[in-house]
Amino acid sequence: MSGPILFQPLDIRGVTLPNRIVVSPMCQYSARNGYATAHHSVHYGKFALGGAGLVFVEATGVTQNGRITNGCLGLWEDGQGEALQPIAHFLKQNGSVPAIQIGHAGRKASMQRPWHGNGPQTEEDIARGDFIWEALAPSALPLDDGWLTPTAMSKKDLADLKSSFAEASIRAVKAGFEVIEIHMAHGYLLQSFLSPLSNIREDEYGGSLVGRMRYPLEVVDVVRAAIPEGMPLFVRISSVDGIEGGWEMDNSVTFVKELKARGVDVVDCSSGGNSTKGATNSSLKRGAGFQAPYAERIKREANIMTQAVGLIRDPKFAEKLLCDDAADLIAVGRQFLYDPSWAVHAAEKLGQTGNFEDWPEQYGWWLEKWDKSLRAMGETP
Ligand SMILES: Cc1cc2nc3c(=O)[nH]c(=O)nc-3n(C[C@H](O)[C@H](O)[C@H](O)COP(=O)(O)O)c2cc1C
Repeated sequence: MSGPILFQPLDIRGVTLPNRIVVSPMCQYSARNGYATAHHSVHYGKFALGGAGLVFVEATGVTQNGRITNGCLGLWEDGQGEALQPIAHFLKQNGSVPAIQIGHAGRKASMQRPWHGNGPQTEEDIARGDFIWEALAPSALPLDDGWLTPTAMSKKDLADLKSSFAEASIRAVKAGFEVIEIHMAHGYLLQSFLSPLSNIREDEYGGSLVGRMRYPLEVVDVVRAAIPEGMPLFVRISSVDGIEGGWEMDNSVTFVKELKARGVDVVDCSSGGNSTKGATNSSLKRGAGFQAPYAERIKREANIMTQAVGLIRDPKFAEKLLCDDAADLIAVGRQFLYDPSWAVHAAEKLGQTGNFEDWPEQYGWWLEKWDKSLRAMGETP
């Protein structure tokens, strides 16, 4: 097939993505008791109208106490799946593949919305009507001074949470999502099992690398078993903690080989987040595609499809990552907040289209004529 790889379809199991552009999961902190609101419909809908191939709905808690903030989405009851259904339907109807990230916040649960401080909740948050709840984690180690000391999960907690992951996955499928991603990054529960910085358990779920990988892999097994055979399963990892003594790239390669053996199709390669001191991302210097080398190495050494993410804004750069075989998919976050039509704009920049045929029909017919008028006036869009 000729033309930019960015705009070539990709088959993953029984699903065909129309292009390689992914809207990265981005919490909106705008849910009510875990239920999607009008904000979510408008927010996600924009990206489908803007031509993204795969649109991820944000980190969604599989239990009520697995939410990051009071404003996070949930899938712990059927009504929440029903509230997400029109969103999945709209995405699909407008040419995007609807996807959702599910997870548990672990020791980072019950924190503030970013614009209220992005730290542990305070009296001010309670005064706003929010509430604080118990955080669960592999070990009773707070993220940092002043954060909740989580309760170390019992064997029953572990078993119950696996059931919650399975039930949430089934609700996601019923809601019409065609791709599920398990959140195993950024210091949330499943990554905190992996990292020796946050997991000091002495049972079979801690200690050696094999022990620390055990619970996240068990979660993969229950999710894979709960969803249809033809449904792609993604996992987002923190490729490195970026903190001395923490999770390293060699560990990621070993872990991803295990993920692949259990039926994971794509690994979404992020980093960091397991300590406020280590910032929200790794200590790696920020720059265009700064996490893409993780996607490249994991793709090569674990022989699996990868998704690159992190400061990817220029379509030509995105295309180069694909041409260099550094990744199979390009996830874009903040640039999509800035320009929800980034995907159709990228097509124009790569010379893929110039006549607005990729735009929604409600817009394209008008924009083509508008473009002609602009050009006659010596202007361009
Ligand atoms: C508002 C916002 C919310 C985010 N929420 C999530 C989330 O729910 N799950 C997740 O894995 N990453 C989340 N992230 C991280 C993004 O998915 C992405 O990895 C990060 O922003 C880097 O990509 P970018 O430079 O293209 O924005 C969030 C980022 C932003 C800006």
